[in-house]
Amino acid sequence: MLTRDDYLYFADRALDGMTGIVAALGDERANRKPGANSPYALLTHCLGVVEAWAGGLVAGRPVDRDRAAEFTATGPIEPLLERARKVRAAFHADVHAARPEAPLNRRPPADFDGPDRELSQGAALLHVYEELAQHHGQMEILRDQILASETGPPQRLRAGIGAKWRDVEPDVLPSWVADMDLGVAPPILDRIHRILARQDLGYPFRPDDPVVAAFEGRMRDRYGWAPRAGRTKVLSDLLQILQIVIELTTRPGDGVALHVPAYPPFLASIRRAGRVVVPIQVPADVGRAKLLVLVNPQNPTGRVLTAEELSEFAMAAEEHDLVVLADEIHADLTYAPHRHIPFASLPGMATRTVTATSATKTFNIAGLRCAIAHIGPDALVQRLDALPIDYFGTPDILGRAATVAAWTEAGQWHRDLMVRLRANRDRVAAWAAERGLAHRIPEATYLSWIDFAGTRIADDPAGHILRDGRVRLSPGTEFGGDCGTFARINFATTPETLEEILAGVERALERR
Ligand SMILES: Cc1ncc(COP(=O)(O)O)c(C=O)c1O
Repeated sequence: MLTRDDYLYFADRALDGMTGIVAALGDERANRKPGANSPYALLTHCLGVVEAWAGGLVAGRPVDRDRAAEFTATGPIEPLLERARKVRAAFHADVHAARPEAPLNRRPPADFDGPDRELSQGAALLHVYEELAQHHGQMEILRDQILASETGPPQRLRAGIGAKWRDVEPDVLPSWVADMDLGVAPPILDRIHRILARQDLGYPFRPDDPVVAAFEGRMRDRYGWAPRAGRTKVLSDLLQILQIVIELTTRPGDGVALHVPAYPPFLASIRRAGRVVVPIQVPADVGRAKLLVLVNPQNPTGRVLTAEELSEFAMAAEEHDLVVLADEIHADLTYAPHRHIPFASLPGMATRTVTATSATKTFNIAGLRCAIAHIGPDALVQRLDALPIDYFGTPDILGRAATVAAWTEAGQWHRDLMVRLRANRDRVAAWAAERGLAHRIPEATYLSWIDFAGTRIADDPAGHILRDGRVRLSPGTEFGGDCGTFARINFATTPETLEEILAGVERALERR
């Protein structure tokens, strides 16, 4: 029958498989918890099982074990791997000394869910194998989740259909489109997987819209702003909301005030509608426009407008009787101590403001279309309701489900994300400072807006960096205004890829 060597061969495969995964993941990743457990904790638990069952119950050594603490254990991996080597050696000795049919030398713990009879030593060793094999499988899944959540550059992203990684040559690193290389929060993936597993892709039944409740709850909890009941429309994207608001508040030829540099599709969309972009330098500039589009936090500069700055815009909107489209899509990407203040929460602004946002930037789901327009002005609601609603279409169930999961279940992922983004932001800032590049550290967003004026590539920074550094940044010229010496870096990637991006920029700076 089964020999001790056969047994150890398979038990070792599981145990060594786990130590191999922990070693390959390294200190930081092995301590990450995509779900309830980290790989570090699972290995700690398995070592506890081997020591308690093979060492304690089979061999009869006294074992001091805190089973619950195993699942929350954290720490550097080297001492854990060292312990694993010792436990493995003792395990081998215990298995060789075991007498499979003899009774145990100690009793199993009271809460052990086993058969209604005395266990033999062989049965206890079978249970050890059961635990090792089960947790090995679990750890393989954890490893895949951890790696997938950060998969930066290589295969996964290049193999995908996303523009950021697809619309570049194979040897070019993309740092342009504002998508992140940092994966998607497990609760979002979970919801989508569950819908797909049920093949639940028919017309949805939605007596109460959970997207609306998720938006209203989030605004209240995070920003202390209570959206007005019944005023939240669920649409598909912010460009669509911009066009709707342009249609409802302006006529062809009218001015639309906007901070420049601006998100390039907004500039193009305003012009396509036959309206005129009025670049805002000071709040008084909005007087020349019929609509104020206030993007806060700003893209590409990463500025977060202060309470004082917002109040000046509120006064200007009041004075010129303007509707304000507040694009707050980057709000959840604000770094402390900066604070996002919803424009609609300013005194008197609730009835002037259309607040537009979505989960797509913060939660890296821009391919899933679902956006919110909260319509403050009564007149706009009436005008909107007078339009045929079928014009606008509705976002699909995956976009809606992802948005709800993002806003209600992905808090931990979001907090972890901000830690990672902040480190990258600071790295870019330190790098820019070392090279004497003008750069104002972003107060929000994962975008760095860098001025290459005075360098050898100032005539076309993004062009030189693409040709000589094999890195694709967004050229400053796309953002309007006089920004030819600027380029925008997207630093939402792994630290390793960020270093490669900066190295590419350096190559271009030195080449010229
Ligand atoms: C300021 C701003 N608004 C809106 C968007 C996204 O708009 P949409 O929902 O149309 O994709 C972005 C994307 O980067 C942005 O930076």
